[in-house]
Amino acid sequence: MIAEKTITWFAACSVTDVPANGGVCVKYNDTQIALFHFTRRDEWYATQNECPHRMQMALSRGMIGTQNDEPKVACPFHKKTFSLVTGECLSGDECAIKTYEVKVEEGIVYIGIED
Ligand code: FES
Repeated sequence: MIAEKTITWFAACSVTDVPANGGVCVKYNDTQIALFHFTRRDEWYATQNECPHRMQMALSRGMIGTQNDEPKVACPFHKKTFSLVTGECLSGDECAIKTYEVKVEEGIVYIGIED
């Protein structure tokens, strides 16, 4: 039997708390999550904040952009890039990051945590 995944949505912040084409770090219990508003594409993304390269809590301060139309974030330290959709490392490394679902309702941004 396949267990259905349950998602807990938590209110992360207001839409206006996140800079255009930038990110912020929000906390869910002890977990740091990088939340991005890709305004150029009118899209929201959330990933783990920790860069797996050197375990820096940094991805929310990374630069977002696209690679072959794939939205991505570049770590501010050594510029490793990760897909904002799948979390895959686009710099040729094995390390991947966790991604979360995001939804916006009445000006509040919610992040989905899988139980
Ligand atoms: S710590 Fe992120 S690329 Fe090195």
